[in-house]
Amino acid sequence: MKRILDVSALTIRFGGLTAIDNFSMHIDEGEFVGIIGPNGAGKTTFFNSLTGNVTPASGSVNYCGTSLIGKIPSRISQMGISRTFQNIRIFPKMTVLENVCIPLHSKPTYGLFPAVLGLKSAKAEDERIRDEALSYLERLGIGEYRDYEAGTLPYGLQRRLEIARALAAHPTLLLLDEPAAGMNNDECRELVELLKKIHRECKLTVMLIEHHMDVIQPLCDRLYVLNLGALLREGKPGEVLSDPEVVRAYLGERRKRK
Ligand SMILES: Nc1ncnc2c1ncn2[C@@H]1O[C@H](COP(=O)(O)OP(=O)(O)O)[C@@H](O)[C@H]1O
Ligand SMILES: [Mg+2]
Repeated sequence: MKRILDVSALTIRFGGLTAIDNFSMHIDEGEFVGIIGPNGAGKTTFFNSLTGNVTPASGSVNYCGTSLIGKIPSRISQMGISRTFQNIRIFPKMTVLENVCIPLHSKPTYGLFPAVLGLKSAKAEDERIRDEALSYLERLGIGEYRDYEAGTLPYGLQRRLEIARALAAHPTLLLLDEPAAGMNNDECRELVELLKKIHRECKLTVMLIEHHMDVIQPLCDRLYVLNLGALLREGKPGEVLSDPEVVRAYLGERRKRK
């Protein structure tokens, strides 16, 4: 099995705070891996280090054999890593379809001249892009909303739109940061089915940060549990989620809050 991502002894600091503490992990081609842990554990910071939004203090991050350290986000996206954000980042005034066209427009296959002159090949390319963007919206079950202003969609559908846009960047590795946040049980179940389908049909490797265990459990092959930036436990969901230390550090705390 091909190793897609290999992270070794990663440490990330913000001033005096160690947000990620000597964390090592890996993910193989086609795997679906979950990252769980209490709020503030460093999960989003970890994703930020993979997408070039944060520079680690030490450690290594290799993606398909190439180091990602020091690479800028757009380059990392071109290399095949794409993500969604915990705090949704869409263009609210653009239409749903336009939001998904953006990553596709960033890689035009026609030259400058046809684009400037409005020649047939540029128009054909625009049409191809719209068709492709629509295919992602349909995959996520939101094709019927294509002409809506993105900001007017309910929260759950905006999260799906973000996933559609992430797919439009043609990723090998998809990073999802709390895609089920704010969703009710029915929406969670639908999301699980959509993610299963996308994982299979798009032949993706997926890393998922999530608090909903009914989303994590049916999807993930393996879990990493972070606590205060450090690895608490790694393993299959069944084993990890019944581990007394994990229950104490994370699940127990969540039960108390409810
Ligand atoms: N840009 C930043 N500057 C300073 N501190 C940060 C920054 N980003 C995250 N942190 C801190 O790092 C810790 C981990 O945060 P985060 O990665 O968002 O956790 P999680 O996603 O697991 O809830 C928190 O204490 C948070 O306040
Ligand atoms: Mg987070």
